[in-house]
Order: sequence, then structure tokens, then C-alpha cells
Amino acid sequence: EKGGYEHFMLKEIFEQPKALKDTLSGRLQDGEVILQEVDLTPEDIHNFNKVAIVACGTAYHAGLIGRKLIEKWVRIPVEVDIASEFRYRAPLIDDRTLVIVISQSGETADTLAALKESKRLGARVIAITNVVGSSVAREADDVIYTWAGPEIAVASTKAYTTQIEGIVLLALYLTQSKGTMPEEWIGEIIGELRKIPEKAEEILKNAQAIEQMVSLFDDVTSAFFLGRGLDWSVALEGALKLKEISYIHAEAYAAGELKHGTLALITEQTPVIALATQRDLYEKTLSNIIEVKARDAKVIGFTFAGNSSFEKTVDQVFFLPDTVNELAPLLMVIPLQLLSYYVSVARDNDVDKPRNLAKSVTVE
Ligand code: F6R
Repeated sequence: EKGGYEHFMLKEIFEQPKALKDTLSGRLQDGEVILQEVDLTPEDIHNFNKVAIVACGTAYHAGLIGRKLIEKWVRIPVEVDIASEFRYRAPLIDDRTLVIVISQSGETADTLAALKESKRLGARVIAITNVVGSSVAREADDVIYTWAGPEIAVASTKAYTTQIEGIVLLALYLTQSKGTMPEEWIGEIIGELRKIPEKAEEILKNAQAIEQMVSLFDDVTSAFFLGRGLDWSVALEGALKLKEISYIHAEAYAAGELKHGTLALITEQTPVIALATQRDLYEKTLSNIIEVKARDAKVIGFTFAGNSSFEKTVDQVFFLPDTVNELAPLLMVIPLQLLSYYVSVARDNDVDKPRNLAKSVTVE
């Protein structure tokens, strides 16, 4: 059952190298993405003038990454909505919209309702889900399965990283069809994608380094997660994980937005988790870290190995294996999952079944 792990959550965090590998399996060939389960013709793809991504919770956070990748690579406008909001805002969806719904369980009531509404409006719907034969899988036009295996812990971990892979594969598939990026570039990204499972393994071998950071959270009631670009999207997921299972209030902030209001909330008592995996934004993030250091915050920083200037600025550093900016979220989130896990254990919480949370939310 728990395979020797103390909790399902830890087991599932450690299953990520396999889940990531399985989700790619059979889908990467000779510098090309093959999605047999998606039945879109080049004309269908040409016809789309917009993409709308709809999901809840962690799956929504995967969607935020999807927006950035699809817009950058496919050059088509993308909206991302929380399913319970999408339904009630009279969304501008029609037969030229590609709707992507993301749901681990495939049974989330709001996500399913958003899917049905999209179909009623004439959209083409692709689902990314982890459960074969789930309601979402049955209702969608096409399904990309994540092969994460059963996720038992309420806090989602391996479902999230495999959802990101699903979105990356779909984004590359659309890119190939539209020819919006050079073929060699697609080959390079695919090469990097293949290396992600073993890099995830490398991070997990270093889990102890994260466990040792837990003392920074003693008596803490609030924490901030900062990042720019894709790091900000991952920060939202990191903050959700910490809130869900440790019950510490956490805010994810776009690092550049701090000085527009909330900097005063940062004190010695507020640990700051700073994500700096995006090379083009690195210097800007660093200057935001210096701002929070000036307010005496303790900073845990995450960046790529070899970034030594960073080490001097933050209080604790964790180096990630190197990858391209676009795939960094797949690695960046893993230490954040571990961090929330260890903080929750240190507080003696029921890690796998946090209070007031259900694994599958089938009510609205
Ligand atoms: C967070 C978590 C929830 C789910 C959300 C959507 O750890 O588990 O936020 O991500 O309820 O669930 P699915 O993906 O099953 O639609």
C-alpha cells in the first residue's frame, strides 16, 4: 500500500520520476510529438482563434503554465479560468475555440459543467485527466491521459507534474501542426523533456536538504512565495500545498508586484520562498529578493546549479538540475511539495487527509 513510506503523499511525491516517464511513454518519437488520442486535423487547428483552459485548484495551476507555453509557442490567445468562475461569466466560446479541461479525478462538478457548457457553445474540448473512463473523459471530444497512477493523498502532487507534461505535449503538438517554431527547436525541447524524469529523481535524492529547512517554519503563521513568469505559476501551487496540509497561511506573489502593496506584510516572522528558475527574469527576481531581505525576512531560494551569486543573497539555497526555462516548473515544484510535506509532518497534521478537503469535489 504505502510501500514503506509513512504517508501516501510522500510515496506519491517519490513516484514522480515513474509517473513523468510513463506519461511521456510512446508520445515522443524522432523529434516529434505523437498524440494518437487527439484527433485534430491541420484544418481544425488552423481554424482555432482562441484556446480556453478550465480547471480547479492544482489543475488550474497547471493550466496557468499551459497558457504561457501555448501563447509563446503557438502564438494563439489563451484564457485560463477557474471552472466555478468560467461557468457564470458568459464566456466568449464558439466553434473556433479549443477548450482544454484539466482534472485529475475527471469528476469535479464545476469542471464537468464547464466542459458541457463549452460543448453546448460549439467548442472542441480536449480533456487532460488521470482517470480512464471518468465523466470528464467520457464527455470530452479527445482525451490526453496522464499516467500518474492512482493518487490517494488529498494534496495533489504527481497528478500536477503529469498534467504539466500533458499540456507541454499538447502545446508541442499544436506548435508542430502550425509550424510556429523551427523543427530543430522542437527536437531540442523533446530531448530536454526526456531527461526530466531522471532529473526529478536527482531532486528526490536530495530530499533531506529540504527536510532540514523545516525549522524555519517553527511558530510561523504566514509565508510568501515569490517568482516571475512560470515561477509565479509554480509559486501559486507551492503556496496552495503549504496552506492545504500545514495550515500556514501562504501568499504567492508575482515578485514584481510586491512593492505595489504587500511588502509591509513581510517581516522577520515571514519566511519567503523565492523561485528563480527563469533565466531571462533572474536579475529582476534577485532585486526583489534583496527587497525582502531588507525587511529581515528569511529567504529560501531555488535556482539552477552553478548560480553562485544567488547563494550569497539568500539564507538557504536549493539547487535544481539544469533544464530549459519552459520545462523548469516540472522540477521546481518537487522541492515545494517536499517542503509542505515536511512542515505538515513537523506540525503533527494528518498529511494525507487534511481537514475540510475532499479528494474529489462532486458538489458545486
Ligand atoms: C490540491 C487539490 C485540489 C484539486 C482540485 C481539482 O492539492 O487536490 O485543488 O486539484 O479539487 O481536482 P481535479 O483535478 O480532480 O478536478
